Amino acid sequence: MKLLVTGGAGFIGSAVVRLAIARGHEVVNVDALTYAACLDNVADAAKAPGYAFEQVDIRDRAALDRVFAAHKPDAVMHLAAESHVDRSIDGPSDFIETNITGTFNMLEAARAYWEGAGKPEDFRFHHISTDEVFGSLPADPSVQFTETTPYDPRSPYSASKAASDHLVRAWHETYGLPVVLTNCSNNYGPYHFPEKLVPVIILNALAGKPLPIYGDGSNVRDWLFVEDHADALLLVVQKGELGRSYNIGGENERSNLELVKTLCGILDRLQPKDNGSYADQITFVTDRPGHDARYAIDPARIRKELGWRPSVTIEEGLEKTVRWFLDNEPWWRKLQSRQGVGQRLGTGGGK
Ligand SMILES: NC(=O)c1ccc[n+]([C@@H]2O[C@H](COP(=O)([O-])OP(=O)(O)OC[C@H]3O[C@@H](n4cnc5c(N)ncnc54)[C@H](O)[C@@H]3O)[C@@H](O)[C@H]2O)c1
Repeated sequence: MKLLVTGGAGFIGSAVVRLAIARGHEVVNVDALTYAACLDNVADAAKAPGYAFEQVDIRDRAALDRVFAAHKPDAVMHLAAESHVDRSIDGPSDFIETNITGTFNMLEAARAYWEGAGKPEDFRFHHISTDEVFGSLPADPSVQFTETTPYDPRSPYSASKAASDHLVRAWHETYGLPVVLTNCSNNYGPYHFPEKLVPVIILNALAGKPLPIYGDGSNVRDWLFVEDHADALLLVVQKGELGRSYNIGGENERSNLELVKTLCGILDRLQPKDNGSYADQITFVTDRPGHDARYAIDPARIRKELGWRPSVTIEEGLEKTVRWFLDNEPWWRKLQSRQGVGQRLGTGGGK
């Protein structure tokens, strides 16, 4: 299959590109190369004859039309987005422009291409979204997000992703565009950009810096290993039912404090400190405004209908991740000098 992957130089997009190339697909990687991008993430995949890169901003409709005409993809996997909640609190406009207007442009460019090609039945537009569109859950473990949970986004980031999900469904209902959607939980793994919680904790721990925990650390997330996510996405784009959405979770609910303590335990084992535990560096900081209490995915649909389950437990996935960061210092060192990385963002103070 020839896949047009947007955001393929980002964290999850690059995992999709690497896996797709490894499985023999062709890939057209469309990415504007924002602060969050790193082409090193796909350096090996880029050597494959079936790989092409287009530095294109999804806000540029004419450029997207050119990419579709030049590459004639069989399917689109749309991951390009502004993705950091804290940045969306300080400066929401990029989130509106890329996540909403950019998705609108992608839908219109894909529709023009699909209609121009005689509406091939097997064309797919796969929109990759987040569980954050569903809002915040109570602590009760029997309550989880299903595909029919009403949308209730509460941050500029999740509101922009919710808007994009609605556009994708509307383009299916109104124009018949063959779409599939996925909403997944928090990812972690190799090549995770060093402003997100898991890499921040690993890298601050190694640098002897405080390990910042927002609020009291009780916020619960369902953690998904990025390579498992990429595997689920390739399954959905090929086998997902038209117009349907699938929730993807790691079956690994943890509070932020539990997650950080697990990471400290792994680091204590793999790279022990001279004295004490990395957990001694844990520091509680002011909470994020509007911090959602709990996200939890009910993955029954993707399990029953497509037979997909995550391959690793959180302990296994976190250990792979810590080992990867220990082995790839040049990768993360380079990214630490990028704008905003290493600073506390999203306290509501604005830009
Ligand atoms: N990271 C998570 O835990 C998570 C969870 C659920 C869903 N998602 C969704 O998965 C997708 C990928 O997330 P990620 O964590 O890999 O993000 P990321 O921030 O690591 O990467 C985003 C990529 O998109 C590119 N991009 C941004 N704006 C663009 C534009 N205007 N035009 C073209 N390219 C642009 C960036 O250059 C970057 O390479 C997003 O749609 C996000 O909403 C992420």
